[in-house]
Amino acid sequence: MSTDKNHSSVHRCTCRETSRRPRLLLDRRRFLAVGSGCVLGALGGVAADKLPPVDIGALTKFSEDGISEEFTKNDFFVIRYQGRLFAASTTCPHMGSLLQRDSQDATRIKCTTHGSVFDGEGLATVGPASSGLVRHGISVNKDGHVMVDPSKEFHQDKWGDKGCYVEVK
Ligand code: FES
Repeated sequence: MSTDKNHSSVHRCTCRETSRRPRLLLDRRRFLAVGSGCVLGALGGVAADKLPPVDIGALTKFSEDGISEEFTKNDFFVIRYQGRLFAASTTCPHMGSLLQRDSQDATRIKCTTHGSVFDGEGLATVGPASSGLVRHGISVNKDGHVMVDPSKEFHQDKWGDKGCYVEVK
């Protein structure tokens, strides 16, 4: 896959898929944002472009390191890695394809479109993707439940920011 000829061939056969997936994601997000905005607006006026936080369960539920696909319907993986819990986007940072946990190695995430691989922290270890997975806002509420805020995004250079992870023991 390193020659230009091969790259062209891969690119040609996947163009339609990569151009369609991000649009579908945006359409779905826009639909949710507008729909929830209309309802919330009718109830008292909350910003229409903000997706509601997702309750992913009690913090104690995430007792081991690993990549969970339980919330991929919400467009994020839940990852516990070396004392931190975070929510990483299922959208490939290369060209926006849908990512999946590697069926051959559950500690990795793969993009089947152009072959990028991401490790258990979300770092790109095989290209063409050159950056890690975008993470979403995450926090623990007063009931001990982990809340993921999909409207907040943290790119790789912001992974150390508060609000991008919760500490686990
Ligand atoms: S879209 Fe190209 S590697 Fe994922």
